[in-house]
Amino acid sequence: MKRSAPTLGKDLTGLESLSPEQIRVILDTAEPFKEVSERQIKKVPVLRGKTIVNLFFEASTRTRISFEFAEKRLAADTVNIGAVGSSVSKGETLVDTARNLEAMRIDMVVIRHWSAGAAHFLASRIPSNVINAGDGAHEHPTQGLLDMLTLRDHFGRIEGLKVCIVGDVLHSRVARSNIYGLVALGAKVAVCAPRTLLPAGIEELGVRVFGRVEQAIEWSDALNVLRLQLERMQDGFVPSLREYNRVFGITRERLEWAPREMLILHPGPMNRGVEIDSDVADGPHSVILRQVTNGVAVRMAVLYLLTGDAPDLAEMARSGGAGRA
Ligand code: CP
Repeated sequence: MKRSAPTLGKDLTGLESLSPEQIRVILDTAEPFKEVSERQIKKVPVLRGKTIVNLFFEASTRTRISFEFAEKRLAADTVNIGAVGSSVSKGETLVDTARNLEAMRIDMVVIRHWSAGAAHFLASRIPSNVINAGDGAHEHPTQGLLDMLTLRDHFGRIEGLKVCIVGDVLHSRVARSNIYGLVALGAKVAVCAPRTLLPAGIEELGVRVFGRVEQAIEWSDALNVLRLQLERMQDGFVPSLREYNRVFGITRERLEWAPREMLILHPGPMNRGVEIDSDVADGPHSVILRQVTNGVAVRMAVLYLLTGDAPDLAEMARSGGAGRA
């Protein structure tokens, strides 16, 4: 693959600001990186000599470990920092933490933070590349990208696909990144949730709204099922979890009414028996673990593309570097 414009710029803070061409470049760049993870020796020297700090101020399994695998498979040096155990717990500011890390000559920061806008705030204050690994209820761009890669793997295209995001859209950074990315690439996007879990004016993002999950299933090629974010909710968004499952849960019985083959995605972690039943999560429609696998390739692609001075992939393949490492 020839390394060429358009570049991503210094940071990846969200998909809202990316052009369709930039999104396609990330998805296309992820393709050769998928193969690296299937090798016995899962390493290419693309980011050799780069130092990357993973700053995770919120809990994470998939994103944190996926970024770390991606960095290590690109041969970068990595350091992991959380709120607990760092001087953040003593009241140090985000910018002071980052500037102290920069004083130790780092190249990139991957940040997950509870506050919407934290990644952009940091990116505008430090010269290192910044990647948003989820900021409050704002965006989770690499999750949106890996969801799109998984859809494209299965359907062979994004344009014209009907994708419905079902569940707690109000608190979901995954929903926003999916909406921005999918709309940019020409998908038809809908959301389905109780009104209490939809942001006001969601239609302005170019999505249609379904109030009943049966309508969503009839319309869609794929459902991206969101976790009820119980930790971000005050009381009163849904009457009870059992009620939510009864009305909005994705169950095998409901999928049997789908007029066409239906793909089920979920960003994780799942509340089994609430937004999704186990026989759907583990069933033939589910690509949930394929999303996780694609997450590593997408993150390798983003890390690679943000490092403007990384060697060309085709160049490396010719010299054996991106072949068998
Ligand atoms: N999808 C996702 O962000 O999962 P984690 O919270 O485990 O990283």
